[in-house]
Amino acid sequence: MKRVVVSNRVPTPGDPPTGGLSVALLDALAGGSGLWFGWNGGAPEPRAEPATQHHDGIDFATLPLDEDDYDGYYRGFSNGVLWPLFHGRLEAMTHDWEARRTYDDVNRYFADHLAPRLCRTDVVWVQDYHLIPLGQELRARGFEGRLGFFLHTPFPPYEVLRALPEWAVLFDCFRAYDLVGFQTEHDMRHFADTAERRPGATLSSRADHLDWGGRSVEFGAFPVGIDIDETARIAAKNTDTDDARALLDFADGRPLIVGADRLDYTKGLVQRVKAFEKLLTDEEHHGPDPVCVQVAAPSRTGVDEYRQLAERLQQEAGRINARHNRPDFNPIRLIGRSLPRSTVLGFFSIADVGLVTPVRDGMNLVAKEYIAAQPVDDPGVLVLSTLAGAAEELADVAVLVNPYDLDGVADGLRTALAMPLPERRRRHALGLRTLRCTTAEDWWNRFLERLRAPRPSSRPWSSSHPAA
Ligand code: G6P
Repeated sequence: MKRVVVSNRVPTPGDPPTGGLSVALLDALAGGSGLWFGWNGGAPEPRAEPATQHHDGIDFATLPLDEDDYDGYYRGFSNGVLWPLFHGRLEAMTHDWEARRTYDDVNRYFADHLAPRLCRTDVVWVQDYHLIPLGQELRARGFEGRLGFFLHTPFPPYEVLRALPEWAVLFDCFRAYDLVGFQTEHDMRHFADTAERRPGATLSSRADHLDWGGRSVEFGAFPVGIDIDETARIAAKNTDTDDARALLDFADGRPLIVGADRLDYTKGLVQRVKAFEKLLTDEEHHGPDPVCVQVAAPSRTGVDEYRQLAERLQQEAGRINARHNRPDFNPIRLIGRSLPRSTVLGFFSIADVGLVTPVRDGMNLVAKEYIAAQPVDDPGVLVLSTLAGAAEELADVAVLVNPYDLDGVADGLRTALAMPLPERRRRHALGLRTLRCTTAEDWWNRFLERLRAPRPSSRPWSSSHPAA
């Protein structure tokens, strides 16, 4: 029996992990025979056999994507259609059938190369929206073992999902899995609500599995967490580096607000800097003017929407700086490149406020990392969007704000900056206790245990089912 993780991106064996999630999945695969399979993440090159590597007890098998694959599957359908659709940004969706065909074709290409490596006893865990049809492609190639799927993004309500012309065909792909996992109860309910509308699908009385044309498909909420001790350790080690000192020099004794995100329209970055400006002009704010440092790591630069966002954010930060700067004060520093995870965690540790205001987010691990990175004796405060999945768990820990309400975000920042030490300590201690209930390890353990648990027998896979 081996564990197999399949994801669009595969971390480079031996490189420092870029995020907490790859640490978690590497952990899930270590200590037994594990395989991580997916795209090699490199520049487009002709399709080929997978390149394999063995590192720290894990096998890595990665495939290249050619130009058409990259354009249609990755840039076009995954990030130009499913990403905006699942985040409820319908006007950013650029549907075209050619891209959709390529999406299916790349899923077949992955299955062609993965299926021969699988045996009946293997447990296969597919990650995220790029690979929804992979399950049925593996079933079509004879794989009968346990097959799970986890969605890292939100799952949209039916009324949003049906904006996708072929929503039903895509949705029916979930029928091939034994277990489908979501970040939050909300996402899970959206899934169940759509499932009930599909012919031949019946929801169980406990609303945790579907009898779907003779197949049993379980589903549940499995909130992704972080490794708190590892995060705290890295953060504490990086508070006195050149980068961290440069940040403190920039703040020059003023309150420091830090955000760190991929440069993505779901992260609410333009609204965020505008809300920060409201704080600067707020007459009720007493004390020194705060400064804001926003790390905005370039992402998906091949998609138009992302290029336009980078320009808008720079313009907005430039305008605010031009309007509010003084000889001894520049309010915003925008860092438009990716920084190592350790540097960002060091920044979090010294920041008075962590500002995490996505307009929609499946979970948002940055929010959790900010809490774990805080010094216990003098912790900072998290200001968190109600529209991030993490807000379900951190409602009593963070100052919750609606990212579209710029005055409300400015109020939240003011509350956070004025919060007395005993209240900061109380919230921080509660935050740590909360995060310990759903660590990264719990996440993969809970998912894989449920995937392996005995279950009602499912009819052997067939792509058509009687009621469909
Ligand atoms: C989100 C998605 C991941 C994706 C990541 C980075 O977190 O859920 O699947 O890998 O963004 O995006 P990229 O397009 O660079 O892989």
